[in-house]
Amino acid sequence: MTIDKLDTGVPHPARRYNYWLGGKDNFAADRESGDLLAKAYPAARTAARANRAFLRRAVGFLAGEAGIRQFLDIGTGLPTADNTHQVAQRVAPESRIVYVDNDPMVMVHARALLTSTPEGQTRYLEADLRDPARILTSLEILDLSQPVALILVAVVHFLPEHARSVEIVRTLVDALPSGSYLTMTMATTDFLTPELKASWDESLRTGRSDVHPRTRAGFEEFFTGLELIEPGVSAISEWRPDPAAEEHPTPVEASLFGAVARKP
Ligand SMILES: C[S@@+](CC[C@H](N)C(=O)[O-])C[C@H]1O[C@@H](n2cnc3c(N)ncnc32)[C@H](O)[C@@H]1O
Repeated sequence: MTIDKLDTGVPHPARRYNYWLGGKDNFAADRESGDLLAKAYPAARTAARANRAFLRRAVGFLAGEAGIRQFLDIGTGLPTADNTHQVAQRVAPESRIVYVDNDPMVMVHARALLTSTPEGQTRYLEADLRDPARILTSLEILDLSQPVALILVAVVHFLPEHARSVEIVRTLVDALPSGSYLTMTMATTDFLTPELKASWDESLRTGRSDVHPRTRAGFEEFFTGLELIEPGVSAISEWRPDPAAEEHPTPVEASLFGAVARKP
């Protein structure tokens, strides 16, 4: 599987997401695409922040309550505040994290992801989620005989074929030992008004969007055979919300499903 070369004229999810989060690592094409999508779905920026907040809470849970010390974060995004290793290593400095993304811009900025504590380790792998075999054979610092938290946050919805995406996630989960965790978020139009849903569908049909939403039933398929952690499949803003957070978006504003599950 080839990795896209850095083409600043073509919008890319990592840079568009960076734009929505208020970052500076994006180009005109990313901002244009971000504004177009935000027209079809006005809460896009709020959803991006809510997604990042979910990631923070989920990693806090995994490193804390669940006692996980190894993380495989695929679809990492451009470094920003509270990257997975920072959240995990605040709880457990010995945590080891492998980041994976297919955007060459993320590779350029990867140094910021490699600021591990001395007790832990971080690595960056430029690879594609659609090639799970390559990812699984490149995890040098992870010991696959010990539990791993697989993190697929706001990435699987870039894969348009649902059955294939379920298969890819299954391949990854199958390679991990009992006691491992799957953490996912994924765009959905389930919470949207018919008008907003139609607008999103239209963006997809006309090629302005590359985000392929799933229904609740579609999202739940990824967790077959796994034990969902309370509160189960939820709107991301309703998954263990932080009462001290500044923002409390509604499920309509943060239109992504989120869940954390344990492999028995
Ligand atoms: C919306 S960002 C999410 C970033 C981070 N996971 C978060 O939630 O804050 C999606 C990321 O997935 C990456 N991505 C999209 N498709 C991918 C693929 N097929 N393989 C690997 N990474 C991919 C993009 O480059 C981007 O960095």
